[in-house]
Amino acid sequence: MPGFDILVTGGTFPDGTTADIGITGDRITATGQLDGAEAGTVIDATGDLVSPPFVDPHFHMDATLSYGTPRINASGTLLEGIGLWGELKQVATTDEMVDRALTYCDWAVSMGLLAIRSHVDTCDDSLKGVEALLHVREVVRPYLDLQLVAFPQDGLLRDPTAQENTLRALDMGVDVVGGIPHFERTMADGAESVRILCKIAAERGLAVDMHCDETDDPNSRHIESLAYETQRLGLQGRVAGSHLTSMHSMDNYYVSKLIPLIAEAEISAIPNPLINIMLQGRHDTFPKRRGLTRVKEMQAAGIRVGWGQDCVRDPWYSLGTADMLDVAFMGLHVAQMSSPEEMRRCFDMVTVENATILGLTDYGLHEGAMASLVVLDAGDPIEAVRLRPDRLAVISKGKVVSQKQRNDSHLTLPNRPQSVCRRHFAGT
Ligand code: FE2
Repeated sequence: MPGFDILVTGGTFPDGTTADIGITGDRITATGQLDGAEAGTVIDATGDLVSPPFVDPHFHMDATLSYGTPRINASGTLLEGIGLWGELKQVATTDEMVDRALTYCDWAVSMGLLAIRSHVDTCDDSLKGVEALLHVREVVRPYLDLQLVAFPQDGLLRDPTAQENTLRALDMGVDVVGGIPHFERTMADGAESVRILCKIAAERGLAVDMHCDETDDPNSRHIESLAYETQRLGLQGRVAGSHLTSMHSMDNYYVSKLIPLIAEAEISAIPNPLINIMLQGRHDTFPKRRGLTRVKEMQAAGIRVGWGQDCVRDPWYSLGTADMLDVAFMGLHVAQMSSPEEMRRCFDMVTVENATILGLTDYGLHEGAMASLVVLDAGDPIEAVRLRPDRLAVISKGKVVSQKQRNDSHLTLPNRPQSVCRRHFAGT
């Protein structure tokens, strides 16, 4: 039996199988019953869930951890958040953005979140956010995969220098083309921005990830333009539509035409349930809309859907801990994904589905995969979503990057019959 650098023993994989994992260098080099194997580091995962790492396909790392600067979002709307971010980016410095982003990456690693796609604002002539996150991408590369999306936050056509600056950002090395058609001045300008951005992506051989129809307006139909341009330019399989919240209010007949168009274009959908349950429906009295796109309906049509985090403590969202299980938990509720199969799928949507959206090619727990995984204090994926438990160990690219002692305080959780409270009150 060969020696390994790291041996993870006895863990339960998300599919229910139990196996040991041997790691050599940055690769998984053996799985199965590795009795008698030796290793420099042994992690006993008996009774624990061992999963490939969490992946976030939608985040804003230039804004994260800035909550309250220079003020809070009083209305709680997307539009006030955009205005507030506009104030913040006037005064934020590159160093401060780097510092906040690196702190967030530490949070992410401790949660087993090891790959993130972050949008970065390109509506700023200095492009300090782009400069900051390109630097962060290199700093974290040994332990976290950071993919950057050029995002003209103030509108590609609405902002006078957005197009030029977005091209500059891509020239500097930003990975993916983004956009925000629903923030342009007119529906026509929104459609034109989609056309221009998809053409840029086609010419440069890049992927597209566009904020699309993040509104309660049922007439916001830029996902239709995105599907059309994707199909027209041959971009199938490398385009994502983020948010798509207007679909919750669209006419059912129109949606019966739209969903097949999205499927035909092989567009992935990235709803962000924590943020949109908070932001959407703010103009409603009652009934009040849930702010989530048609997740189960798209999945039934074969469209890949992954849950995104979007924001943590920034102008749009005051909470968050970089825990993709919080995202899955909220998504499960708002989408009413309550069957056992649907709950398991919510776990897949923050792991394997998101990894596919990001194009991670060596992701998984099989031999030859990148040696990145997380050990959770849970028995299976459903329990993981229910408890959002401690990450007992996180391994990234063959290195143990985070460990936590098993915490007996979980005895107070309702699934554990021998609760501390019951013992405490037994004699009274
Ligand atoms: Fe976003």
